[in-house]
Amino acid sequence: MTLLAAALDARLHAHAPYSHFQVGAALEAGDGRVFVGCNVEISSYGLTMCAERVAAFHAIAQGARGFRRIVVVTDVPRPAPPCGACRQVLWDLCGDIEITLVNLQGDSQTFSLSTLFPRPFDDHAMA
Ligand code: THU
Repeated sequence: MTLLAAALDARLHAHAPYSHFQVGAALEAGDGRVFVGCNVEISSYGLTMCAERVAAFHAIAQGARGFRRIVVVTDVPRPAPPCGACRQVLWDLCGDIEITLVNLQGDSQTFSLSTLFPRPFDDHAMA
């Protein structure tokens, strides 16, 4: 299964009863394993977790490291980029990975995370 197919499939599992905005993500680790995530919304809205963070936490919990790229799928005319919280989490856990944003029409855009998240806060910023 390709990374895109995995992200499309994960999106179908989104739990988004409030926004009805379904997001799927698939993160490829250094050893080739793929970890998926979907957004999970909670009635106390602030507890909601984005698809990208679910994928990243899932991967870390499975012992994966050395991430290469992530594909994020949304159903909007302009494929949606990760929110600020997800950019920080991906930076900390994955470094400067490639991020491909795709919609259901197959439009896609690829960025490096450092382009989307310049001058990040991280352990270097505390030195
Ligand atoms: N969402 C994601 O899954 N990823 C993002 O980077 C942005 C937002 C989800 C959270 C919420 O369930 C819905 O999209 C609307 O904000």
